[in-house]
Amino acid sequence: MTDIPAMIKAARAVRERAYVPYSGFRVGACLESEDGKLHLGCNVENAAYPQGQCAEASAIGAMVAAGSRKIKSIVVMGGGEELCSPCGGCRQRLAEFAGPKTPVHICGPEGLRQTITLGELMPLAFGPHNLLDEGPDDEDEE
Ligand code: THU
Repeated sequence: MTDIPAMIKAARAVRERAYVPYSGFRVGACLESEDGKLHLGCNVENAAYPQGQCAEASAIGAMVAAGSRKIKSIVVMGGGEELCSPCGGCRQRLAEFAGPKTPVHICGPEGLRQTITLGELMPLAFGPHNLLDEGPDDEDEE
């Protein structure tokens, strides 16, 4: 079973390690893969601004490097008063390895703020199913 408090705790810890000299905006992400492992990432900015990487992208890289390719649940933690909802590019990156029913738990440093599905965040996503006979999210298709 998904241990959301453990994922939030892990996201909080990795968020502290974000490299954000330009924005000062720390983001941590924790992905649970279908084998139950947790994969962490933080944002990593760069002096050449467009080369910076979002927390979700870092976590996806960690997950794939660990040998997992299907996301069961997602925790994203940002700061400030607003919801730190995954950016458009990260919605597309997540859709590569998650399905429309995959829960996205959006958090602030204090904890969970809102849970939404990836399909709600990104309806009609273009994904592996468009190109492959069997995409990673086939199980979640209606
Ligand atoms: N950021 C993320 O890490 N994930 C998102 O989904 C939204 C934005 C980062 C990128 C940049 O380092 C900082 O937040 C400010 O945009």
